[in-house]
Amino acid sequence: MIATDGKTEQIIADFPILARPTSRGKRLVYLDSAATSQKPRAVIQALVDYYEQYNANIHRGVYEIAARATAEFERARVKLARFIGADAREVVWVRNTTEAINLVAYSWGNAHVRAGDAILLTELEHHSDLVPWQLLAERTGAQLRFIPTDDSGRYVLDDLDALLDGCKLVACAHVSNTLGTILPLETVVPRAHAAGAVVLVDGAQGAPHLPVDVKAIDADFYTFSGHKMLGPTGIGVLYGKHTLLEAMPPFFSGGDMIRKVEYAHTTFSDPPRRFEAGTSNNADAIAFGVAVDYLHEVGMPWVREHERRLTAYALERLAGFEARGLAIYGPRDPATISGVISFNLADVHAHDLASILDTEGICVRAGHHCTMPLMEKMGWAATARASFYIYNTEADIDALCDGLEKAARVFGI
Ligand code: ALA
Repeated sequence: MIATDGKTEQIIADFPILARPTSRGKRLVYLDSAATSQKPRAVIQALVDYYEQYNANIHRGVYEIAARATAEFERARVKLARFIGADAREVVWVRNTTEAINLVAYSWGNAHVRAGDAILLTELEHHSDLVPWQLLAERTGAQLRFIPTDDSGRYVLDDLDALLDGCKLVACAHVSNTLGTILPLETVVPRAHAAGAVVLVDGAQGAPHLPVDVKAIDADFYTFSGHKMLGPTGIGVLYGKHTLLEAMPPFFSGGDMIRKVEYAHTTFSDPPRRFEAGTSNNADAIAFGVAVDYLHEVGMPWVREHERRLTAYALERLAGFEARGLAIYGPRDPATISGVISFNLADVHAHDLASILDTEGICVRAGHHCTMPLMEKMGWAATARASFYIYNTEADIDALCDGLEKAARVFGI
């Protein structure tokens, strides 16, 4: 049993969607937070307040509501900076993790990566931390290398120093979106720096679930998305060390990122605004600030511990299905994974399994999870994936197991 102090119940009450039954009259059992999280009332209300009370363009108007919008937008940047232990000058607003990585690949990558250099990734990368580097390698003639994983999805770091030899950049997921594996950054980052490489950490699945201090990690870049951590879609963060951002040229260009524009020439603002061309996503940035207020209040160490206990409970319960052909993928030690479990039931296709679960109100993702090379390496056509967050309880895991029972009956297993 998961010990509960009533905190999870209080959290659940803050999420309106969790009180709505599905069209079949079932309780919504949301186990797809790795794809996107649900939103608490405070975040939804922040969006409504913005549009009802002070919608205006920022950094431009001098009138009252424009000044308020600008102040709230910049206050949200400070909140995000504090949430990850950074300075507000180091927080660039972007649409999502994918845009953040592309920004670095073009702006920093084009300036620093040359033919013959190496870029080190891991075999667990999401396409968004793979494809931009493939394109950079094609543009520059650089070589891609990969930190391998074993059959359980654990990192094999035995040859790390050899892999780092000649590396300009290491780009790696803090947490695997498919298997939940946590990368031991305390091992990888210092050795990457010792080899002279810059380190970008894809924190899309890290920042929502683990306490993150970018200075303690010593990441050069750290990227994450609002929608996976209680915030709205369309807003994310690129953290970059100020010295690095200061030396980088713009990625997008246009209004609001300039110091002086002449017909023939432009000088640019200092970071972070140098990287924020055009009208910003004001409402969503402000609501993202409210989302991290909420997470701060809940406490990120509590989030991590809650998910660790939930994962341990889920692994224990799911193990009961192994004799009937349930394959559970990824490391089995809850201390080394973060709230994500991929699985398949015998030879039932993951999409069919997910559809049966859906009839019971249970939401899991099924497919390749934007990690096609990993699927191919492991020999999986697709997997079903359950992922947990602060509003999940052991009752959700029990519902998943009841759903698996139903699926087993339907498929005659
Ligand atoms: N990256 C998200 C996921 O893993 C969409 O589901």
